[in-house]
Order: sequence, then C-alpha cells, then structure tokens
Amino acid sequence: MTALALTDTQLDLLAAAGGAAPSLHNSQPWRFCPTADRHGLQVRIDSSRAVPITDPDGRALHLSVGAAVFNLRVAAAQLGRTATVRLLPDPADPQLAAELDLSAPAEDRRPFGPDLYPAIAHRHSSRRPFSNRDIPEQILGDLVDAARAEGVDLAVLEEYGVRRVLELTTEAELRTAADLARQAETRSWLRPEGPTADGMPPAVLGPQDHDARVPVRSFTGHPPTRPAPPTERFEPLPQLATLATRTDHPADWLRTGQAMERVWLLATVHGVRASVLHQAVEWPDTRWRLREPEDGPAHVQLVLRLGYGPPGTPSPRRPVGEILDDTHPAEPHLPTG
Ligand SMILES: Cc1cc2nc3c(=O)[nH]c(=O)nc-3n(C[C@H](O)[C@H](O)[C@H](O)COP(=O)(O)O)c2cc1C
Repeated sequence: MTALALTDTQLDLLAAAGGAAPSLHNSQPWRFCPTADRHGLQVRIDSSRAVPITDPDGRALHLSVGAAVFNLRVAAAQLGRTATVRLLPDPADPQLAAELDLSAPAEDRRPFGPDLYPAIAHRHSSRRPFSNRDIPEQILGDLVDAARAEGVDLAVLEEYGVRRVLELTTEAELRTAADLARQAETRSWLRPEGPTADGMPPAVLGPQDHDARVPVRSFTGHPPTRPAPPTERFEPLPQLATLATRTDHPADWLRTGQAMERVWLLATVHGVRASVLHQAVEWPDTRWRLREPEDGPAHVQLVLRLGYGPPGTPSPRRPVGEILDDTHPAEPHLPTG
C-alpha cells in the first residue's frame, strides 16, 4: 500500500480523464470527490444533468458515468496506481456510482494491453461517413476480448444483423422525430457557435445519410429546425456491434459504460473510429427487439458503428474545477525533526 495521498495535480489529471468520457448529448453527468484520506476517489451521478424524457430509467446516464469510471482506471495506471473499483457501494446512496481505492501501487503499468491513456484525448465521436475498408478480424477479436474482460458481450454483427439493427434504429429515429417532448429535450442540448462547456455545438454534428441507409441521429430534428450539414453518402453496409449484458440493472449499465469506453479507446489506438447509434435502445420495444433471440436472455445496452474515417471533432468539456469536489484538501506536510 502506498502511503502517499493524491496530490492536487494528480486529482486534476484524474478528473480531466474522467471528464473526457463520452455521454448522452454530451451531458457529462458526473462529479468526482476524493475520499477523506485522499487515497481514493468517489464518482457521483449528477442528476441535474440527466436527460429524463429520452432516458427515463437512467440507463444512458449510468453508461456515461461507467465510461468516466473506465477513464479513471486508465488514468490511475498512468499515475502508477491500481484502481480497485466498487460499483454502487452504498445501497442507501444510489447517486454514488463507484468508489475507487487508489492506495495500491500499479503491479502492471499497462493493465489493459496497449497504453490507452493517450487515446482518452484522441477519442471522439466520428459522425461522418466511413470508408468501405473492412476492420481486420484480429482487431475485432481484440475488441470482443476487451468487452468480455469487463463482463460484457460485444457482438460484431454480420450482414443480416446489421440490416435488422439499422431497421430498428430507423424505426426509433422516426418515432423520436414525431415526439415533440423528446425533440425539445434534444434541442435543449444544442449549443450555438462559440465557447461552451457541454452539449452539442454545430461543429460536432454530422450529416444525414443521402441514401437514408445509416440512420444517424438528427440532433436538429426532421425537418431540421436549424441549419444542418448537407447530406452525404454513408458506407452502404456499416460495421455495427452491440454491447449486451445478461441482466439489466444499474450495475450492468455501469459495467457496459466501462466496456464501451475500453472498446472505444482500444479502437482509437488501432485507428478505428466509432460513433453511437442509440435511438433503438431508447424505446423499450425496439430495445427488446435488438437482441438476437438465439443468443438467449441478453439485454442490448448500446449499438456502436465502427470503421475507418475522419477522427471526429473534439467536443467541449466542463473545466476540472466544476467536476472535482475537493472538500478534502491535501494535509500540509508537517516539518520533521
Ligand atoms: C449512452 C450514450 C448514447 C449516445 N447516443 C448517441 C447517438 O444516438 N448518436 C450520436 O451521434 N452520438 C451519441 N452518443 C455520443 C455522444 O453524443 C458523445 O459522446 C458526446 O457528445 C461527447 O462527444 P465525444 O464522444 O466526441 O467526446 C452517445 C453517447 C453515450 C454515452
């Protein structure tokens, strides 16, 4: 056990890594608080940043916070510490999503295979068309293994499965487009041009598919309520993958968020881009129909589109000072002798 408490600089590095995680509509629904002895970090859900009409159960909220937890684990390794994670450690306090004990030195500086730390800053949602280049089987296998290591099944879909998921996503996107309350909620996360700390500024929005085959989310509505990027031709048969769990509780959603981020960072290391197609997960019936019936009782939590293309545009983040609650300042060093 290392005797050293986390310094302010280390806490800032951890919070910046956690805060760089992906989140629904870039809502960033997290807060990080050092433990009283400064040997660990609590990850709290910030419910004021929930997206309640689109995400009434908090599934996407927990997924987003789970992704932040994974980034913290990567950053802990960067600091030479092992992160021992307890998910939802206090049943009386469901906003406490996780507690990380960071007191032990890292036995392995690369606990996730390749060094994932630089990928935290390079990972972005890539909402533009991808090329037709196939992702090598070896890389896809590594992504499946990465999700499995987090206790989550990543299914790389074959053509039939891709077409089925595209159909369900189109159905859900059209239903969302006709739902005025959801449309208003999504629009409330759109941000104007200029400095902002959260939400979706115009630069990060992608085009719609000219051939309407890849149903990327329209953040500006159907028809668009604001100037939208011109349509472009997407890849005819995207490479889709689903993340699924055996049970469907908040701890499963936090695990899925960690698996999503682990897969996404590893993909980034390999130059593979990703974006999320979440619309079908947001309606109970389309979410249920996302599962492959022959796979048994699986709960699909997320749909990822993978491929080769532009890296995506960095989206804004809240400053560390807003997401790090430092109520336990570092002990002053007492003079010895
Ligand atoms: C649970 C979840 C659902 C998401 N759903 C979508 C989606 O349907 N369409 C989309 O383009 N991006 C989606 N995203 C990506 C977020 O919009 C993105 O992570 C956020 O805007 C921050 O941008 P970044 O990923 O580039 O850092 C989703 C992300 C999460 C975690």
